[in-house]
Amino acid sequence: MTRLFIILLCSSLYSWAHAEGLYLQMLNNTQPSSEQIQKSLKKVEEHKDIALREDLEVPPFHKRNKQIPSLGHSFCTTCHLSPPHTKSVRSRTFMNMHTQYIACETCHFRPEAVQLSYQWQDTRDGSLVQARPELFRVQKPVKKTTQSIQPDTMKPEPLPWQEAKAKKINPFYKVTPFYQQQAVVLGRNNAFAQETKKLWESGGVKEKAARRALIHAPLSEKGPKCQACHNEEKSLLDLATLGATAYQMDKIQNNIISQFFARYKDEKQQIRIMSLLR
Ligand code: HEC
Ligand code: HEC
Ligand code: HEC
Repeated sequence: MTRLFIILLCSSLYSWAHAEGLYLQMLNNTQPSSEQIQKSLKKVEEHKDIALREDLEVPPFHKRNKQIPSLGHSFCTTCHLSPPHTKSVRSRTFMNMHTQYIACETCHFRPEAVQLSYQWQDTRDGSLVQARPELFRVQKPVKKTTQSIQPDTMKPEPLPWQEAKAKKINPFYKVTPFYQQQAVVLGRNNAFAQETKKLWESGGVKEKAARRALIHAPLSEKGPKCQACHNEEKSLLDLATLGATAYQMDKIQNNIISQFFARYKDEKQQIRIMSLLR
């Protein structure tokens, strides 16, 4: 009986360790066209390891550490800066902020034909994180008056949101796409990821261009619009499944900054903050 159990355990561990996420499966079935490789060659030749400039942050999301260390486990930051967004002056600060709690693939890997689900993942080891309200930054403020004093210790009981704050949110937990109960993303330790790293460090420009074209073939150049997630209907993310309370869902879905972004009709348009009040 025990032996059978051990065999079952081993075989499930084996298939777990060897199963491929959907992204890698797609890469294995992709052959970039010569046009894609040509385009990629141009991008690789133009690509520089840009030094991070200090002025990429705008208030009220104050200057943070220049590097986001929690991105170190992402396959994407093998080549991309962390934070990765530099081009769109309007949105880069917000998109870089989101990389602290949302995996790159959630926004950039959205194949049309498959139904993905989203869960919290510990990006360090790829394990699933139990959904719960404390994983969100948005927390309900609790009035001090509701605090109870324990008669035996005379110490006030910590309020739930104070506890959550004290524990500090774990920056390695990110909302990640799953397909058939399996994370779509590629870990840094994966053989393909390691080979890519080597190639990026010491490969020839042609090799790099071909690999870059392959990696980006199933990806979306642009991320989703703010409203794709900050929306009550047909949201990309099922916030309740991610552990959000009704209060948190309401705050995220009716987020005023994302509503402000929805007013932009094109990349160059300027809207004054004053019009938020109208
Ligand atoms: C092997 C290196 C490498 C890896 C790994 C990599 N990228 Fe890129 N990526 C590049 C280069 C080079 C560019 C060209 C623009 C630049 O220089 O930043 C680029 C461009 C992009 C763009 C802009 C659109 C485009 O095609 O030019 C997006 C979006 C992007 N990458 C997302 C990702 C995501 C998401 C991942 C992880 C799943 C990833 N990349 C992994 C090298 C890489
Ligand atoms: C919340 C959604 C979201 C997440 C998470 C996200 N991106 Fe993006 N990304 C976007 C959007 C939207 C754009 C289009 C340009 C913009 O609005 O900044 C973009 C554009 C880009 C570009 C091209 C433009 C540029 O600024 O260089 C690259 C490269 C890129 N993303 C890489 C990444 C990588 C790498 C990660 C993970 C570390 C990531 N993104 C995570 C939404 C996201
Ligand atoms: C892939 C889904 C997704 C996209 C796309 C997205 N967001 Fe978010 N955003 C979230 C989630 C989830 C949170 C809540 C994180 C938390 O509470 O921990 C959030 C939080 C925020 C917050 C912080 C809210 C607060 O009260 O702390 C702001 C501001 C915000 N988003 C603005 C934007 C803007 C602007 C865009 C588009 C340029 C955008 N978001 C696109 C998922 C998304």
